[in-house]
Amino acid sequence: MAVTIRWLGHSAYALNIDGHKLLVDPFVSGNPMAKAVAKDLDAEVILLTHAHGDHVGDSVEIAKRTGALVVCNFEMGDWYTQHGVQNVYQGNPGGTYRNDWMSAKWTIAFHSSSFPDGTYGGQPNGFVIRGGGAVIYHAGDTCLFSDMRLIGDEGLDVALLPIGDCFTMGIDDSIKAVELLRPRIVSPMHYNTFPPIEQDVGAWAERVTAETEAEPVVLEPDGEMTL
Ligand code: NI
Ligand code: MN
Repeated sequence: MAVTIRWLGHSAYALNIDGHKLLVDPFVSGNPMAKAVAKDLDAEVILLTHAHGDHVGDSVEIAKRTGALVVCNFEMGDWYTQHGVQNVYQGNPGGTYRNDWMSAKWTIAFHSSSFPDGTYGGQPNGFVIRGGGAVIYHAGDTCLFSDMRLIGDEGLDVALLPIGDCFTMGIDDSIKAVELLRPRIVSPMHYNTFPPIEQDVGAWAERVTAETEAEPVVLEPDGEMTL
């Protein structure tokens, strides 16, 4: 495997897959957790889980500057096209985007999705990302749901799960999610960015170790793990 997962803070990740650059939900400007600066982020592909501002983030600027392909749901894709991003791939849950170094399958997520300007943002989703010999699940913003068991059947190396509560699952439900997903590694996201989603991540990691088979990996903002 040659995969590096760098956490930019919140639900934003920069993945390096066999030398190729992938961004997920690149929210850096206005993200108090982020150390990276948007103008320094490069990408060939940008995956977006839904249209909320804390996920769309800097994606328009990055896509226009780099020419990266924006991979998102159908309604979001129309919005990007209308906002000057020409390189867009639209899908919906069950579908898979593929290129010669990675693939991303849309999964369901239970949440809402509207752009900061009020435009309807289609169905929120997560992704199962395959590349560099690794299988990575980015849950997006979601509650716990029992079909995570089916996502676990994909054979996950890493699950990136929200634990912040309020807008997504909190710690208790994230432990149940790990039991359903059965990943080798679980790493938390969507917490401590803003006061409503403050969590004790050390306590979360202790519970993962005590109650599940997965290894918890807590990244610092701009920290990374290599698979
Ligand atoms: Ni959201
Ligand atoms: Mn969010």
